[in-house]
Amino acid sequence: MNVLGIETSCDETSAAVVGGGCRVLSSVVYSQIDHHRAYGGVVPEIAARRHVAAIRGTILEALTGSGLEWNQIDAVAVTRGPGLASSLIVGVTAARALSWRLGKPLLGLNHLEAHLYSVFLNRDRKEMGANLPMMVLTVSGGHTCLAMMHGLHDYEVLGVSLDDAAGEALDKGAKLLGLGYPGGPFIERCAYGGDPAFVSFPRGQARSVNAVRYGNYEPRFCFSFSGLKTALRYYLLKHPEVMEDARLLKNVACSYQEAVVDVLVDRTADALEHSGARTLACVGGVASNSRLRDCLQQMANRYGVQLLLIAPEYCTDNAAMVAGLGGALIVEGIDSGSETDIAPALRL
Ligand code: KG4
Ligand code: ZN
Repeated sequence: MNVLGIETSCDETSAAVVGGGCRVLSSVVYSQIDHHRAYGGVVPEIAARRHVAAIRGTILEALTGSGLEWNQIDAVAVTRGPGLASSLIVGVTAARALSWRLGKPLLGLNHLEAHLYSVFLNRDRKEMGANLPMMVLTVSGGHTCLAMMHGLHDYEVLGVSLDDAAGEALDKGAKLLGLGYPGGPFIERCAYGGDPAFVSFPRGQARSVNAVRYGNYEPRFCFSFSGLKTALRYYLLKHPEVMEDARLLKNVACSYQEAVVDVLVDRTADALEHSGARTLACVGGVASNSRLRDCLQQMANRYGVQLLLIAPEYCTDNAAMVAGLGGALIVEGIDSGSETDIAPALRL
């Protein structure tokens, strides 16, 4: 079962071929970062135009890289949401055309579900059952979510961020600190060797009224990061010298990163205790952060659960997770993905 996956939900144009739902045969990610850097964030119109320019070449490169011929592709899977409407439509249109031309089925998939599934890439899929139920912390630029995975396509969302996502908090913090874009990797680099206790930034608590309004979630499993960014803004107004002193900047970046990591690990530990999960996983772009990986590992050791992490290239947006999920759904005979219209606000 070879599936060609396409991912264009935000600012990465990506295509991949995955065999048997987990063996990555090729994974091509064309990042548009250089085109958005000057604006300090993703510009939807530019993203859509870059997707149009890159999609054909990216798909062809993925096929060539896989060593397969077109007639060996059994299905096409594409992200239909959540994401930027004008970006999603490029991937979905390409996937529809390809599926029609090949005469193979098309699956429209949820980007968040694909992130959750990413942890099984390049692993033996038979291991999957042994790892369930699995607590999954998804931390990306657009989403922060704690969910229990009971099986393929069987999830229970425990909590989400009620304002900024973890990656968004890092990106906004990096902007205030005058670091590069996107901020997460720059904060990580700058924080290295700094003092995490130099500034005591707030550990945001989600307000119960918002948690209930948002999705009837328990506030203790929800996240709030917008206050942290504001705290950094006021700290820098009070201490302008930070921007002139590399040592101070390192300590402030390190304290800021620590506040984000602390909240993520704390909520996850609480959810883990409450859930009886066998395994813990962390996925999404921020899951490539080494401080977060280390702290989650220490916490998992304390609780005696196995922590599943994946190589950083599969943490950030990629089509391998889409192709993998598509293949696994087909192999397991789970009837999902028949809806292929874009859904920019799709939830898990
Ligand atoms: O999953 P992803 O590629 O896109 C979304 O679905 O949003 O995540 C992108 C996010 C950005 O906020 C980026 O700053 C963050 O992941 N990120 C990191 C690191 N690498 C990427 N955050 C912290 N440390 C990193 N090493
Ligand atoms: Zn993502």
